Amino acid sequence: MLDGFRGGLEGCDLDWVSVGRKLLPAANFLDKLTLDLSSPIDELLDLTRQHKDRLLWEQSYSKRDKVVDDAMLAGYAFTELTGKLGPFISNRLRCGIGIWGPGITYPLHWHEAEEIYWILSGTARYCIEQDDPVLQRPSDIIYIPSNTPHGFSTEDEPFIVLYLWQGADLRQISEFS
Ligand SMILES: [Fe+2]
Repeated sequence: MLDGFRGGLEGCDLDWVSVGRKLLPAANFLDKLTLDLSSPIDELLDLTRQHKDRLLWEQSYSKRDKVVDDAMLAGYAFTELTGKLGPFISNRLRCGIGIWGPGITYPLHWHEAEEIYWILSGTARYCIEQDDPVLQRPSDIIYIPSNTPHGFSTEDEPFIVLYLWQGADLRQISEFS
């Protein structure tokens, strides 16, 4: 499943740009994690935590879009590591870390790029198309084909993922029904 994404990594270390820094409240959930540094996943979370103040945390949606509720806007953020806007430039692969606080519902949405979520921390009930939600846990990998509706509800801990996109506009804003 990951092989299709591997080619997108080629050359992405050739160019980088400074993207500035901006902290959003959801990034502070990193501070509350109890980490086991012998685990590669927790090592990645620890690195992100150490550098969270120097990263650019973003949101794709705003109150004006009316596609996600206020609870999600107050409690989610992502930081891009690789993508067409940088900091490591790639027009083939988008990769970053997304954080959603407890009790958040991300409604069904879709985009042309195919996507992988690698769960780093927390649990969520994840839906792909109209199937029944499946509880996803740390180290689980979710594959979402192109233009396939997907969404989730987080449980009682922050839900943190490494996301990967490829195969389309890497900054497309998702569509909602
Ligand atoms: Fe997605």
